[in-house]
Amino acid sequence: MTDPQSTRKPRKGDELEGQIEHFDRKGHAIGTSGVYSVRMRGGVPGDLWKLVVKKRRRHVLDAHRLELLEAGPARVEARCQHAGDCGGCSFQTCDYTVQVAEKQRMVEEALAAAEWPELPIVDPVVPCADPWNYRNKMEFTFSSRRWIAPHEPQGAESAFALGLHPPGLFSKVIQLAECHIVFAAGESIMRTAGKLALEQGLDAWHIFEHTGLLRHLVLRHAVNTDEVMVNLVTSREAPELIEPFAKALLEHHPEITTIVQTINTGVAMVAHGESERTLHGPGYIEELLLGIRFRISARSFFQVNTVQAERLFEIVREEAGVRGDEVVYDLYSGAGSIALVLAASVKVVLAFEQVPEAVADAIGNAERNGVSNVNFFEGDVLTELDATLAEDSPLPRPDVCIVDPPRAGLHPDVPPKLLALGAKRIVYVSCNIHNGAKDMAKLIEGGYRVTRVRPVDLFPHTPHVECVVTLELTGETSE
Ligand SMILES: C[S@@+](CC[C@H](N)C(=O)[O-])C[C@H]1O[C@@H](n2cnc3c(N)ncnc32)[C@H](O)[C@@H]1O
Repeated sequence: MTDPQSTRKPRKGDELEGQIEHFDRKGHAIGTSGVYSVRMRGGVPGDLWKLVVKKRRRHVLDAHRLELLEAGPARVEARCQHAGDCGGCSFQTCDYTVQVAEKQRMVEEALAAAEWPELPIVDPVVPCADPWNYRNKMEFTFSSRRWIAPHEPQGAESAFALGLHPPGLFSKVIQLAECHIVFAAGESIMRTAGKLALEQGLDAWHIFEHTGLLRHLVLRHAVNTDEVMVNLVTSREAPELIEPFAKALLEHHPEITTIVQTINTGVAMVAHGESERTLHGPGYIEELLLGIRFRISARSFFQVNTVQAERLFEIVREEAGVRGDEVVYDLYSGAGSIALVLAASVKVVLAFEQVPEAVADAIGNAERNGVSNVNFFEGDVLTELDATLAEDSPLPRPDVCIVDPPRAGLHPDVPPKLLALGAKRIVYVSCNIHNGAKDMAKLIEGGYRVTRVRPVDLFPHTPHVECVVTLELTGETSE
């Protein structure tokens, strides 16, 4: 163990004690060891760990855990045997109320780091009433390179796995026996699929050799209608192998309402592909959310936590502050969930999304729900806004803009266009508040003021948190 009084700088391989204080936004546990900061995986605030140094960068030591010397008060028993190994849920051994408090702190810190002229009060994070089995979609991976846990014997059978990756190691897959964040039936469908694949001699994809048939098992559940989709992603069609597999899976799980096969002949580890065929049922599931029926196909985007998505959309509707006669823009509209939720409360919604399939889903969803005051535009928000801002544009300017970009946030040229649109109110839905806060700094500089920040926990046991930030136009620019 390194002597804390020693003046020698810690090096790789040194052993030391680390007192864990909090999490960072990537899910690492952060603590101190003497004058150094330590960063590790698997720690919980309040823990004392014996660690081994992996790397030193100035005053930060990246370390591996060796032994838990003293468990902190926030530490709870892991529910899952794979906790600590699996990258699926890194906060599982931390009490859920402490997870929520940590997310609150992370949001407040991100806003403080963004150096806005005024630091808003952040509302309490809306917690998830049941933080288990909350995911309505889970993408498991088949692999011919099973990850062998340190406690397993050398030479353990490793040619087949169905599960998730260890944190940061995408070339290997943990053979999962359980998963407590996927919807309840999903866990047992996943286990049966793995067992059947082995029994029927179906081989798993090899990430480097690009061989093997089975690539991903994507499971989806519509919570309010109880429909279940299995999407089997394979490297080729192979109906003589896949059809008996699907039939057997269905015999074990009559709760499955549709089975789809997606064929991905490419080398990228993605669960979409060039073609799709339906093996059972209609090829989609339908979910009811806030009174609207959404059709979800294998390739549709849909928020993964149904209960919290309802809460999120209600908050967006409240923050939009609409009375019935507004023009609303829904930027980055996906399959139109927010646009359709708002439609009944406004004059018209113009929704902008670049993925053609998502726009097609959105149009279908609007038609099936009898919604006629939403117009969907397919294209990049950047160019679509240029068209909207053109002098001869027939499109009305927005009273309210909803902005829900991907994790990276807005393209740097989008905030000036939002300023040019001049909506009285912008509701920014951010799944990465660090990036979102930088975008919002530009809106604040251009005359907006943040009036409310409402975080919602859609992803228990992970470091992610969704934030709804309301900005109102004051007209006072900082120039
Ligand atoms: C976080 S999702 C929001 C989806 C939707 N608001 C919902 O809650 O269902 C972000 C969406 O932005 C879309 N997107 C990403 N970049 C885009 C761009 N440059 N222009 C238009 N849409 C984009 C993605 O395809 C995705 O559907």
